[in-house]
Amino acid sequence: MSALSGKTCLVTGGAGGLGKAIATKFLEAGANVVICDINEDRLQQTSAELSTKGSFKAVNADITSAPALQCLFDTITSEFGKLDILINNAGIMDRFDPVGDLDEELWDKVMTVNLMAPFRLSKLAVHNMLEQPNPDGSIVNIVSLASKAGCTAGAAYTASKHGLVGLTKNTAAFYGSKGIRCNALMVGGMATNIGDAFAAKVNPEGMDKAMAIMGSARLPLCEIDEVAELCVSMTCGKGARLINGACIPVDRGFSGIVG
Ligand SMILES: NC(=O)c1ccc[n+]([C@@H]2O[C@H](COP(=O)([O-])OP(=O)(O)OC[C@H]3O[C@@H](n4cnc5c(N)ncnc54)[C@H](O)[C@@H]3O)[C@@H](O)[C@H]2O)c1
Repeated sequence: MSALSGKTCLVTGGAGGLGKAIATKFLEAGANVVICDINEDRLQQTSAELSTKGSFKAVNADITSAPALQCLFDTITSEFGKLDILINNAGIMDRFDPVGDLDEELWDKVMTVNLMAPFRLSKLAVHNMLEQPNPDGSIVNIVSLASKAGCTAGAAYTASKHGLVGLTKNTAAFYGSKGIRCNALMVGGMATNIGDAFAAKVNPEGMDKAMAIMGSARLPLCEIDEVAELCVSMTCGKGARLINGACIPVDRGFSGIVG
């Protein structure tokens, strides 16, 4: 029997670059895996690839909608009975705008996807996990260099990821002793679709500043499959139960080298 057999895992943004890799690794570890995303083409492609690998379900759900999240959660609990693992992975980039140039509309959009949705899903998850006879839940929040550094993205993305670190630590502090662990992976650059946000417009000053800092370390990108494996290890690997409230840099040493 595999480590995660009988466990159910939700990966938000699970049809995107990192999310799909995480969903794949949890399936390979034997979990029931549910992904949600808003990109229908990628959802269909991911569904075609992953449904042969194990117990898998893909749902088109917009995580900015509270009713859609409730509906997603109801689907999970009616089909699989409970949720054991929540990976708050979906995230959107801003356009490197500093506060003086940032539209409120973009601020709201980034905050709703990157911070409000993880809050709402974490709330649904902890309630469900605490209803189980012996709670054994794991929440992993995908954060970024921008959850620690001030100049690797714009104001909205940076504030949202700093906020998600706060949510991680508070959730860990309150629920760790009740059987629910909450940790964050502070991931460095990866080759995914996140740069699609820049197609419309970028703030050249903000982008140049961020690229100068990130480029100064001259580090290769992080491989999504390796990040995804780490995500599984933090949930069920040896010693994983000792990790709670941790915000782990996964960046080939960037945050240690550049600060
Ligand atoms: N790529 C990087 O360099 C990098 C670095 C650090 C952290 N991250 C973080 O990694 C996580 C995954 O991003 P990625 O790099 O794989 O990007 P990605 O764009 O490939 O994947 C993100 C997925 O989230 C989905 N999504 C966006 N808004 C949504 C919504 N409202 N409802 C449901 N799904 C939605 C997208 O459709 C997409 O498939 C994000 O939290 C991101 O901030 C990425």
